[in-house]
Amino acid sequence: PDTIKVGDFAERIKKPASEIIKKLILSGVMASINHEITFEVAEKIAEQYGILLEKEEKKDKKEVLINDFEDKEEDLKPRPPVVTVMGHVDHGKTSLLDCIRHSRVTESEAGGITQHIGAYTVDIDDNKIVFLDTPGHEAFTAMRSRGAQATDIAVLVVAADDGVMPQTIEAINHAKAAKVPIIVAINKIDKNGANPDRVKQELTEYGLIPEDWGGDTICVPVSAKTKEGIDNLLEMILLVAEMQELKANPDRPAKGIIIEAKLDKGRGPVATVLVQKGTLHIGDAIVAGTAYGKVRAMIDDKGRKVKSASPSIPVEVLGLSEVPNAGDILYCVEDDKKARQIAEINQEKQRVEYFESTSKVSLEDLYSQI
Ligand code: GTP
Ligand code: MG
Repeated sequence: PDTIKVGDFAERIKKPASEIIKKLILSGVMASINHEITFEVAEKIAEQYGILLEKEEKKDKKEVLINDFEDKEEDLKPRPPVVTVMGHVDHGKTSLLDCIRHSRVTESEAGGITQHIGAYTVDIDDNKIVFLDTPGHEAFTAMRSRGAQATDIAVLVVAADDGVMPQTIEAINHAKAAKVPIIVAINKIDKNGANPDRVKQELTEYGLIPEDWGGDTICVPVSAKTKEGIDNLLEMILLVAEMQELKANPDRPAKGIIIEAKLDKGRGPVATVLVQKGTLHIGDAIVAGTAYGKVRAMIDDKGRKVKSASPSIPVEVLGLSEVPNAGDILYCVEDDKKARQIAEINQEKQRVEYFESTSKVSLEDLYSQI
């Protein structure tokens, strides 16, 4: 990671270390002269001296090993949009997706609460849309954040009888941070207490001004129960996707993101991967964080075995040595040996990070240096 020792940093910017340590404490960072601070923290301190920090470009081993090149414009082909469904708990995210998929996922979910990100591919005429379902429960902030980062469009579900709630606001923030356009689905309009106008009013407080109120936020009133407005919602998603001109090169070694992963008793580590570039094939040597292996089998969202997965397509991947972390980037590399080598480097890095985060500073230790 990009970190620097406080002492080294002081030397670089030619300022007394004690002064820097004071500034660090004032900005809430408890560090002594031997502690590492991140580039972002260092940058803020340097700013206070009117110094502009720049990162030194150092190619680390991992980047050299992984051939994560930029694709040429002429190699890019259209790919389906990846849409994340976000919103407050129980506002109807999974029900809306069921409705779109004509299936019944909510009923089979434990207590009706989404526990993980489900990934589904839906065919609409000649178009495909890939949906990621996220849990609205407050404990799942990281998943919503990941969801937003892996996607092209966020569908924000707000129940018309409940309005904007804490996880609605959080979802708006995640989507904004990831610079992902938001389409608002005002759900449960069939209910007695439904008040779509109140929802719109509340949304304006978070910078989302509905189109019919002169803003640029698309708001679609829907009901997952009566299916009212669902076609309109899909149309809007395709419209926004079309404007984005989403493309990826399918003819290159695959790169993807781990959406979720678990240890299956019979099948070993199973990872749901959303392919972002290239095509993943059976037999490919892969690495994701500290997990590595060969793609032994792939299963699509309908439970079918597949031989390959192209950009935007989510698949379950079997064959990894261990369970990777959700959010890890998966790379296809030349051979098993290389995959293992990269996994080992990642493991080493993880160890270093672990030691850094566990080395605590005592207050005495800190104040003795001021
Ligand atoms: P989490 O995954 O737990 O965050 O919830 P969720 O947003 O996926 O909500 P879910 O789809 O599980 O729906 C919650 C409840 O609202 C269920 O009892 C649904 O039947 C109900 N519900 C969802 N959409 C509608 C709707 O349009 N109208 C009515 N009347 N009820 C709905
Ligand atoms: Mg759900």
